[in-house]
Amino acid sequence: MSNKTIYLKDYRAPAYWIDRTDLYVDLHDGQSKVSSRLSMQVNPDASIEERQQLQLHGRELVLESVELDGKPLTESDYEIDDEYLTLPIGRLLGEVENDELCFDLTIVTLIEPEKNTSLEGLYRSSSMYCTQCEAEGFRKITYYLDRPDVMSEFFTSIEADANRYPVMLSNGNKIEDKQLDNGRRLVRWHDPFKKPAYLFALVAGDLECVEDHFVTMTGREILLQIFVEAKDLDKCQHAMESLKNSMRWDEEVYGREYDLDIFMIVAVDDFNMGAMENKGLNIFNTSCVLAKAETTTDAGFQRVEGVVAHEYFHNWSGNRVTCRDWFQLSLKEGFTVFRDAQFSSDMGSETVKRVEDVSLLRSAQFAEDGGPLAHAVRPASFIEISNFYTLTIYEKGAEIVRMLHTLLGAETFRKGSDLYFHRHDGQAVTVEDFVAAMADVSGRDFSQFMNWYRQAGTPELTISEEYDEDAREYRVTIEQYCRPTPESSEKAPYHIPLNISLWGEAGALAIRLKGQEPDFETEDNTQTIIELHDQRTELCFMDVPERPVFSFLRGFSAPVKVHFKRDNDQLLRLMRNESDGFSRWDACQQLLLNAIAELETVASNDVSEQAHICEPIAEAFWALLQDETADPAMIALMLSLPSLTYLIELRNEVQLGKLDRARETLRLAIANRCFDVLWNIYQDYDHNIEYKPEAEQIAMRSLKNTALAYLMLAVDQGMRQGERGRVLEACAAQYEQANNMTDQLAALQAMLNAEYAAERADTALEAFYDQWQSEALVMNLWLQVQAVRRSPNALSQVRTLKNHPAFDSNNPNKIRSLIGAFCGQNLTAFHASDSEGVASSEAYDFLASEVLNLDQRNPQIAARLLVPLTRWHKFSGERQALMKKALQNIANQKTLSKDVRELVEKSL
Ligand code: TRP
Ligand code: ZN
Repeated sequence: MSNKTIYLKDYRAPAYWIDRTDLYVDLHDGQSKVSSRLSMQVNPDASIEERQQLQLHGRELVLESVELDGKPLTESDYEIDDEYLTLPIGRLLGEVENDELCFDLTIVTLIEPEKNTSLEGLYRSSSMYCTQCEAEGFRKITYYLDRPDVMSEFFTSIEADANRYPVMLSNGNKIEDKQLDNGRRLVRWHDPFKKPAYLFALVAGDLECVEDHFVTMTGREILLQIFVEAKDLDKCQHAMESLKNSMRWDEEVYGREYDLDIFMIVAVDDFNMGAMENKGLNIFNTSCVLAKAETTTDAGFQRVEGVVAHEYFHNWSGNRVTCRDWFQLSLKEGFTVFRDAQFSSDMGSETVKRVEDVSLLRSAQFAEDGGPLAHAVRPASFIEISNFYTLTIYEKGAEIVRMLHTLLGAETFRKGSDLYFHRHDGQAVTVEDFVAAMADVSGRDFSQFMNWYRQAGTPELTISEEYDEDAREYRVTIEQYCRPTPESSEKAPYHIPLNISLWGEAGALAIRLKGQEPDFETEDNTQTIIELHDQRTELCFMDVPERPVFSFLRGFSAPVKVHFKRDNDQLLRLMRNESDGFSRWDACQQLLLNAIAELETVASNDVSEQAHICEPIAEAFWALLQDETADPAMIALMLSLPSLTYLIELRNEVQLGKLDRARETLRLAIANRCFDVLWNIYQDYDHNIEYKPEAEQIAMRSLKNTALAYLMLAVDQGMRQGERGRVLEACAAQYEQANNMTDQLAALQAMLNAEYAAERADTALEAFYDQWQSEALVMNLWLQVQAVRRSPNALSQVRTLKNHPAFDSNNPNKIRSLIGAFCGQNLTAFHASDSEGVASSEAYDFLASEVLNLDQRNPQIAARLLVPLTRWHKFSGERQALMKKALQNIANQKTLSKDVRELVEKSL
């Protein structure tokens, strides 16, 4: 396997197109046969030189025969290696100068889906056959031009045992269904929309289906089907509702109508990612489609809604208009994540959705952007494309689209998206094409804006301020800077939209900027969008009657970091007054971050200094909790302290023990001070309401369960140890009586994290297993809560659980829940020290050996798993050395996959 770097600058359109693809997939135990007939046509833009050869991609295939225009070829007519079937068209056919040259290729290959553990191409998941072709999986099914700019009309025949595979699906419409001899059956599908091979899908299995209908904006009736195993039929309702909501929403907000007469979703247990947008036949990880109150948490319900919407929205942003090459991946992913975020925001709470997205971006995407794997949203090169399905491509890509939306406003943005879809329908295009549509409808110049796509790294803003009481002027200087990243140390300034406002004692102040005519058209003169272009920007606000508090990143209008010192009083004013929910939450976060940073510098036995730092915050929370007008969703968000992951991201060198202690000190102070009011909130909650996964209920549950966690902490380690009995009883009662998984799991986790409740927690863990062992998705939760348990034995627990029947070392969900969660979320255990405080390499070595082991079977998951080790630059020298040694051990293996090799080599 070649570890060749592929460059965007080398892009060439292919020498041949495939107008039509006829597949015949003959499924048999052990070995299946794939016959394809490709109707090829020369690309008139290709040079004569390029037309000489046709190189078809293919991996791990056994070639049985090739025919060119019906004539069998012999082995001397072509070449085969690990990656290509190469046909010398010039020599075999002549006439390559002819711009109308057409020919047919008929290729027969043999594959072994039963042995396919990589979960790309055609493989088995429990009792069914299914496919995953993005990005380059189709080449594991047959020889093909497996690149997104080759779009073809597909006809797919599936032949299989009629009894064992009553359901046989592919893209588009079913055009034939007949019984064959020997108990076999043939089903034919036709997809009238040309598509790249990565959107091909095929499923054969013994599945049941839930059906519904949707009537489109032009009155067409669409059949909706969700296929699952019989035991999961009761878990499809939420996905179906989400699908119908998505279809309606895309019509209303983007004017996009569904195009086929049928839309199918299939749920599979073994899946590398969340789901896949294959044309008319989406394939989903069961974790992203199945949901039921008793087995699924609120977060799970929201994930189902979000992923169903995401895949559905791809029908336009991805399928009808697709990517020219994989460097353009964010063209479809960034835009589609933006669309699904808008949708989720409309379906639930706008502020909660925004806070969740920003938290993910800040803790995980910023970390990626600041580490050895940093890459541009539109990278210039890659080795293995599967490694580029990253937070940067998805989440930062979505933030870039969001900035365009902010700069243009909703109405003009919609004109831009209409133009983009209209202009490029049926084409494979680039990020430039998308931005050009936005520029064309607005007359704006986005050439500097393109730096967001070209440059890796997170821009950092440093803000300084000055208030001139006599002149009634408030002056602000904003400087932007972006640190060097592996692909470039030179960074050009970004075009950054900042949504700003100024807050006085009593509320928002009118904004009048020097050098800018007041804009009489906008009614609201208390907020505006400032656009930064230069390395340094100076703003002068006029007629400012008092020293204001500057709110500079309302709604998180740009994915940047900000350095701006503000004291508690200023932050508290924003927390109370800001009309933008995100900014209220962010002010609270800043308050907490300041306190944690201060606590880090205090000696661990200096109790009075610690109290002095924590007190104003605990007081503020106490007041917030008393406030009957406060939004429960907002209180719950504010009460959740910044994660360790985010705290690490913010620091250049971390002493994790100290940092964790600082965070815990603050948590405990809040728990102690607010105990009574939290207890009241907990008591007042009505545990018997009928479960609904709706924003209001989700907020109430979140607040109540956050309260429970604080209560358990206060009685476990704080000043309320005398009340252990009553709190544990409440917690245990919630565990036993819960009518939904959110409450049951929250109670279990609260017990798991309280030392005094350890015995009760272990009993509950066993009971939980007995109750749910037949529910695979609940078993993921069971593994995960143990993997992230705050306990000195966490690693040995994880080792033990690897041998538990609930674990399956080939199933990505199980690997993520146990090993991924331990290494990525249980940070104090992953970066453990021994009793003398010396860094331990045990967990690093454990992860390295898991990665090596898994790499033999599933390289995509192996590569994802190793990411925690690539964060070595955040730790002290001694720890760095241990983490790098573990990476080096992986690198030393000779037989690594491209996926793992690229990541280890880039991060060493
Ligand atoms: N396009 C899918 C999405 O909606 C991503 C995806 C699903 C994927 N399965 C994959 C990417 C396997 C790589 C490999 O985001
Ligand atoms: Zn996607």
